[in-house]
Amino acid sequence: MAHARNPFKPSAGANPPELVGREALVDEFAESIGSGPGAPGRLTIFTGPRGVGKTVMLNAVAERAQTEYQWLSIHETATPGLLERIAIQAASILEERSPSARKITGVTLAGIGGVSLSEGPVPHELGVRHALAQLAAQLEEHGTGLLVTIDEIHAGRADELKQLAAVVQHLVREEREIALALAGLPQGVSALLAAESVATFLRRAERHSLGALAIGDVMAALRKTIEEAGRTISEDSLGAAAQATGGYPFMVQLVGYQVWRQASGAVITREAVDAGVVAARRRLEVLVHETALKDLSPVDQEFLRAMARDPIPSRTADIAARLGQSASYVAVYRARLLKAGLIKEAGRGAVDFALPFLREYLREHPEGGPPEDGAGAVRR
Ligand SMILES: Nc1ncnc2c1ncn2[C@@H]1O[C@H](COP(=O)(O)OP(=O)(O)OP(=O)(O)O)[C@@H](O)[C@H]1O
Ligand SMILES: [Mg+2]
Repeated sequence: MAHARNPFKPSAGANPPELVGREALVDEFAESIGSGPGAPGRLTIFTGPRGVGKTVMLNAVAERAQTEYQWLSIHETATPGLLERIAIQAASILEERSPSARKITGVTLAGIGGVSLSEGPVPHELGVRHALAQLAAQLEEHGTGLLVTIDEIHAGRADELKQLAAVVQHLVREEREIALALAGLPQGVSALLAAESVATFLRRAERHSLGALAIGDVMAALRKTIEEAGRTISEDSLGAAAQATGGYPFMVQLVGYQVWRQASGAVITREAVDAGVVAARRRLEVLVHETALKDLSPVDQEFLRAMARDPIPSRTADIAARLGQSASYVAVYRARLLKAGLIKEAGRGAVDFALPFLREYLREHPEGGPPEDGAGAVRR
């Protein structure tokens, strides 16, 4: 089958066939590696809502660091045991690169070399510092360096991230070739940086909030991916497909994937695009909206439905009026939804949906919502 292989990658953390609209950010990060120890971009945090491409950004900067500067990278996620795992990874890279270094890597501190992690307390910070310092020193001898990426950072891991930051700061002070790239949901990152225990060093990180992609860029990428995979598409159909993504990176892959599936010949027809867009919206609902809503309390959901009545960001005061509740009652739910990454602040006293097409989804699925009348009359 000539067109069997679908080039699109609609799944979490999967590198897209074309990384749309992030070139400047990747360049900026690469420049910081070129600039040497002390360059501010060597400590970077990417934030943004689910599906915006944070994990993919971490992959992209690591790949660029590798191809342009031969830097190695260690990828981790901010879950318990983070520091041990970094230490273990560093120690095993070191061991691979120079087997004789094994004895001096502090492997027992890192919990490998026969010592189980459960045997007594592991001196985290010391173990990880030791392992990273040795690895960085070794890499420098070969003219390269080390990038550590940590995905899904949030306030719940403030202690470990604080320790990691202290280690990295120490290595930066020693002018080591090391960089740290972090990623997390906006609210999780804000809470982390606001946590009293977190190091000032982390607060000074360069922060980039990833957002929607320009539709023109999406069009170009869809065309390139489709053509490279052996099909063609008219300008008109391409425009319709790109528009349907709303510039949301996950949706770019979903639309591309579903449109590709719907097509049968060498030319992707407008019918295939229209059917593909419907299927992509449905996938988005199942994978993103329904999953996000499922964990919410009835009041959280009512809050969102009250928001969905506005075509633009909602004033918290209006939401309170629609729910027939006090401002302080509404503030509790507002905080919960911010934390869950479903809504975002949109200027003073206003909130907006953080997930693309969630407003549309709620409007199309009004079940379980408050009665349609009443609140409207309360509105100014
Ligand atoms: N710049 C981009 N251009 C095209 N597709 C992208 C881009 N960034 C991400 N994607 C695609 O979007 C989807 C989501 O990407 P990714 O998993 O990196 O998001 P995320 O922000 O880490 O989400 P989560 O918060 O759920 O972890 C993937 O299918 C990925 O291929
Ligand atoms: Mg991710």
